[in-house]
Amino acid sequence: MKKRHLLATLALVLSIFVSSCSTDVKSDAAYTIKDNMIVFPEPARVEGQKSVLQLAVDPIPVVRMGFIGLGMRGADAVNRISNIEGVEFKALCDLLPERVEAVQDWVIKGKNLPECAEYSGEEGWKQLCERDDIDLVYICTDWVNHVPMAVYAMQHGKHVAVEVPAATSVEECWQLVDVAEQTQRHCMMLENCCYDFFELTCLNMAQQGLFGEVIHAQGAYIHNLEPFWNEYQGNWRLDFNQKHAGDVYPTHGLGPVCQVLDIHRGDKMDYLVSLATPSINGLKIAKEKMGVDTFANGDMTSTLIQTNKGKTILIQHNVYTPRPYDRLYQLTGTEGFANKYPYQGFTLKEENVPSDIIPDHENLDSHGFVPNAIRDSLMVAYKHPIAKDIEEKAKRVGGHGGMDFIMDYRLIYCLQNGLPLDQDVYDAAEWSCLGELTAASIENKGMPVMFPDFTRGDWNKVDGYKHAVK
Ligand SMILES: NC(=O)c1ccc[n+]([C@@H]2O[C@H](COP(=O)([O-])OP(=O)(O)OC[C@H]3O[C@@H](n4cnc5c(N)ncnc54)[C@H](O)[C@@H]3O)[C@@H](O)[C@H]2O)c1
Repeated sequence: MKKRHLLATLALVLSIFVSSCSTDVKSDAAYTIKDNMIVFPEPARVEGQKSVLQLAVDPIPVVRMGFIGLGMRGADAVNRISNIEGVEFKALCDLLPERVEAVQDWVIKGKNLPECAEYSGEEGWKQLCERDDIDLVYICTDWVNHVPMAVYAMQHGKHVAVEVPAATSVEECWQLVDVAEQTQRHCMMLENCCYDFFELTCLNMAQQGLFGEVIHAQGAYIHNLEPFWNEYQGNWRLDFNQKHAGDVYPTHGLGPVCQVLDIHRGDKMDYLVSLATPSINGLKIAKEKMGVDTFANGDMTSTLIQTNKGKTILIQHNVYTPRPYDRLYQLTGTEGFANKYPYQGFTLKEENVPSDIIPDHENLDSHGFVPNAIRDSLMVAYKHPIAKDIEEKAKRVGGHGGMDFIMDYRLIYCLQNGLPLDQDVYDAAEWSCLGELTAASIENKGMPVMFPDFTRGDWNKVDGYKHAVK
């Protein structure tokens, strides 16, 4: 009895001692809460693994490709890339053999290209990755397959291009970073909105100082997916959203503004807060389609991010309610403003615009948008150098108005010329990790969540965002 009493007293003293030593609250989630901030792990770099910041590999004059996932997105990707010189298609893979055959017939035979090897079934993609005649594996599957496929491909010596979002959790983001660093392979997320003509022109204008210092930016994915829910193979997208709160599709809004704000090229995203509405429409669709009574993803999710330099980014997600398509894309600078939806326009101070571009300065007014004619001449004058030569062809080939083709063209161009890619694995991780970070904030009533530093301290080593050219 005496012994039991002594043990209980000891346990009490120990628990008081432990709780007074630390403010940490260990949750059963993948994060801890420290000083009212949610913190995800930042595992140390293991020995032998080195940074892939500005990674450049030997030029690959003819890029040999294999494709995994030939649904709505993947089939079009094969078709687009067949318009790029210096590419060979070696293998096609989809879960469903009929999708492989359809692309073989439509693109490969249709263009008289050498026939591709065909893979299908749950694990056919492994055989594709194991081939020794492929340089680049291009992945367009559902989200949960992205990381296992990208990791396996890199471990088999391949460079990887993977659709958005590249990863579905912080842990998966670290896997991509670690394996890219271990294998010294490229892992580029295919964030096509970075190549939209308006976004590219704004990036160029921002880099030339037309907006002064950009202090706030906005981006979003607001797209009512009601007509599309039935089209995703195996219902993967609604199924994922049913299980996951947070901004599960953040990269179209975030990618282009991170390039303007030089994220991990002089600034970094420090923390975010996120709030979501209840799920009304999402739940209704899921009830009908899946027979479930719960739906984790709120109809509208709003997130505010603060960068190390104190700038702010607003990111929104809504794929459920009737609204015009909107990626927001807005830049607020000390000297000007850019806005894409619903009206593409600029507000500028006249002294910042060279007079050979806009002869009539009376038309500039920092209370409203510049007139359309001036907007149009700015769009020509500040057309981004990477889009100039390829714009016409891109518009002809298509893919969201041409931006998808510019993205593919740049990926192949950089590989052919041994240049760093436009988006590295740290971009893929930083932009994709929003899914789990926002879910954690929402789960804790909008508590701030620290961004893991996927560069492990190197975020300030590159001086500003640039597209590499030979
Ligand atoms: N960047 C953009 O603008 C954009 C637009 C649409 C979709 N996407 C992305 O593209 C990806 C695919 O989307 P989608 O709309 O084409 O979906 P989808 O359902 O039409 O296609 C997914 C394909 O992956 C295949 N697949 C599933 N498991 C597989 C496996 N184990 N092995 C091989 N293939 C497998 C499916 O059979 C299907 O054909 C997603 O990541 C999505 O977010 C991006």
